[in-house]
Amino acid sequence: MPMQRVFSGIQPSGVPQLGNYLGAIRHWVQLQSEYMCLFCLVDMHAITVWQNPEELRHHTLTQTAVLLASGIDAQKHILFNQSAVYAHARLGWIFNCITRLGWLNRMTQFKDKTGKDRENYSSGLYVYPNLMAADILAYKATHVPVGEDQKQHLELTNDIAQKFNHDYGVTFFPQVTPLIPPTAARIMSLRDGTKKMSKSDPSSQSRIDLTDDADTIRLKIRRAKTDTEPLPTHPDELTERPEAKNLVSIYAALTNTTINHVLETYQGQGFSTFKTALTEVVINTLTPIGQETERLLNDKTYLLETLRNGAERANALADPIVSEVEKIVGFLS
Ligand code: AMP
Ligand code: TRP
Repeated sequence: MPMQRVFSGIQPSGVPQLGNYLGAIRHWVQLQSEYMCLFCLVDMHAITVWQNPEELRHHTLTQTAVLLASGIDAQKHILFNQSAVYAHARLGWIFNCITRLGWLNRMTQFKDKTGKDRENYSSGLYVYPNLMAADILAYKATHVPVGEDQKQHLELTNDIAQKFNHDYGVTFFPQVTPLIPPTAARIMSLRDGTKKMSKSDPSSQSRIDLTDDADTIRLKIRRAKTDTEPLPTHPDELTERPEAKNLVSIYAALTNTTINHVLETYQGQGFSTFKTALTEVVINTLTPIGQETERLLNDKTYLLETLRNGAERANALADPIVSEVEKIVGFLS
């Protein structure tokens, strides 16, 4: 049986943060031994909200460096930026014509992002999930590692694949399986335990960037919001304490253990002791990645060449699949 394909993407709309690492990137690294993987910097998704062009270029290269520094193997697997492979846009348009408006109206990420100001957002943001389905299905990928927040988009991907197959009477697109990590699938902001940690949050204090140095990490964790209670004995007692729960989850994820186990060690202790321990594990994981990222960023030619090579190989896989779709739809070939 040929190796199954993994596809995943990350928006180059900022520097990747700890949530990206725990919810996505570190799993991508592990999946490389089991699957043939495509990892994509989704610059077309990024411009669904305004991106300063210089910053977009800069973030695309920084993310490439972060992924390589984290252990993505761009030789054995494929690392590229979305806009360099036209198959995504071609299939994205066809999916715009498959998806029903009612399906998009149910997308919670769109509702959360736009709030009451919906009318002022781009139509690209609205059809964002169609392009995401195209990203995956242009390669007939079957496994998609993501954080919890992307689950609904993958359900929509399956609806699109099914409707396409049904409308055209074919069995062309496969169903996709989300691979969502059992712990740390949703890391929360350091300032507000009810909001997810995000690289686009206006407050840099709300997140830990993968490029933060040790002093910055120390300061951000020291300032992270907590409460005055000591750590409890049982995970259930964290339910009403989102900030405490988040810090314990981060510690558990980074040390590959459970919340239960962390509480066994730290129950009854105050946050000053726990934050010191947490700071150490965050620094131990992130600083080697940050340093390697910095080294790679000094060689932009290498990074650009890596992406160009990835795009060429991605294109060789996607172009025949999307050409076939265009034939099924009735475009002249
Ligand atoms: P994005 O930053 O939106 O491009 O997300 C890239 C990947 O990181 C996706 O798989 C997300 O599900 C994951 N991710 C983003 N933020 C978080 C978070 N706070 N906790 C866990 N996973 C996250
Ligand atoms: N929407 C994803 C996010 O914001 C990024 C993404 C775009 C993606 N295309 C994808 C993830 C395809 C997985 C597969 O996190």
